[in-house]
Amino acid sequence: MTVDLVIHNGTVLTPAGRSPNSGIAIEDGTIVAVGRSDRLPDAERTLDAEGNVIAPGVVDCHIHNREPGLEYKEDWESATRAAAAGGVTTVVGMPNTDPVIDRPEHLELKLERGDASAHVDFGSYVVVTSENLEHIPALDEAGALGYKIFLGSTVGDVPPPNDGEILEAMERIRETGKRLGFHEENGEIIDHYTRQFQDAGKNRPIDHAHSRPVIAEREAIERMITFAEETGAKIHMFHVSSGSGAEAVARGKERGVDVTAETCPHYLWFTESVLEEKGNVARIQPPIRDADQRERLWTAFQTGAIDCVATDHAPHTPEEKLVDDPFGNTWDAISGFVGLETEVPALLSFVEQGRLTLEEWAYHHAARPAQVWGLYPQKGSLQVGTDADITVVDPELEWTLEDRADLHSKNCVTPFEGETFTGKAVTTVVRGEVVYDDGEVVGESGYGARVEPN
Ligand code: DOR
Ligand code: ZN
Repeated sequence: MTVDLVIHNGTVLTPAGRSPNSGIAIEDGTIVAVGRSDRLPDAERTLDAEGNVIAPGVVDCHIHNREPGLEYKEDWESATRAAAAGGVTTVVGMPNTDPVIDRPEHLELKLERGDASAHVDFGSYVVVTSENLEHIPALDEAGALGYKIFLGSTVGDVPPPNDGEILEAMERIRETGKRLGFHEENGEIIDHYTRQFQDAGKNRPIDHAHSRPVIAEREAIERMITFAEETGAKIHMFHVSSGSGAEAVARGKERGVDVTAETCPHYLWFTESVLEEKGNVARIQPPIRDADQRERLWTAFQTGAIDCVATDHAPHTPEEKLVDDPFGNTWDAISGFVGLETEVPALLSFVEQGRLTLEEWAYHHAARPAQVWGLYPQKGSLQVGTDADITVVDPELEWTLEDRADLHSKNCVTPFEGETFTGKAVTTVVRGEVVYDDGEVVGESGYGARVEPN
């Protein structure tokens, strides 16, 4: 038997363990064998992994691809080009676009744009507001991967539903079997301090962080867990930034609530001092926290509170980020920065530091996000019969992101510029096609396909 592609001479990694001197055989985009290199079938094309790690393709369930409507920041083509270069094989886009993704026809528009130009596989969330509760079943049928509610104001200014509407949304979403995620910041708390800080002339980047205190996150998590306990809805906490927040998630899990959570590399890597070093470049919502909260977040992560790692990849122009005046009035700056090409390096650096094992990395960055959003085992598993989505990484490669212009997004502002990493994706394979190899995005725009939640 001759298959399409064999990747050999690597260490095959799954959350369950690792096999050296092994590889993967692929036919028609599907994995047909996983095993020792010398036992794999002949292939039309072979790829020598050169002793590197052959991991399940990374699933990033939180990116802002900006299309439709905000293509001046990013679009599907550029976001998924960055994904391919970062070792990410599936991305899920956020709904704060223009129009916002709150109707089946908006979702279809967004997915059609992805069909036309994506380099890697993709899906989309839909937003729930006061205005679209009755569209929840139709949004499910139109292919929503999951639902999102913005509890506090953030980029895009999608107004939060009231608590009654949230309860009703949970009941309706429960019927679809899908999961409801939150931008979990208590809007009244952050609005109050934002106004107070602005009136007092507290205009530094770190003031922005302090205007959105940890209690706003913790309270929002606890309230949504209580609502889910009553309604039986499956819920998810996007971008948990603090130890207090992650501990609240852990208490919810202990109570038997189906609550999953995600954190992002920047909350694990930086402390709020980055806002004094790099200014508004590092401004994000929720904000990067102090050292105590970061350590508590690490502890909670290592003890099971956090399911997934995702980037919250949020591109903005250098002008919007005040790059030429990074310590300018923070209220004139926008929140968010890119992350797709630094997430695998950041996590592999944590592995090198002994804070995670490679197996835990594969779990939190591939298997678990696929499970949480209904894509497993097709995505994130490396099992025979599933999509041949593969991220080959060199876990020992030391490198520095010297110049953000080396990234592939349309706008590349990130506080990770200047940071040094141990580890990098070297080859990215999506359904059997090599889309990134040896420093080049080699896949074709439009190859990426919609994912089908099961
Ligand atoms: O910092 C942020 N940027 N937080 C969000 O909630 C949204 C995101 C964006 O869309 O730019
Ligand atoms: Zn986000």
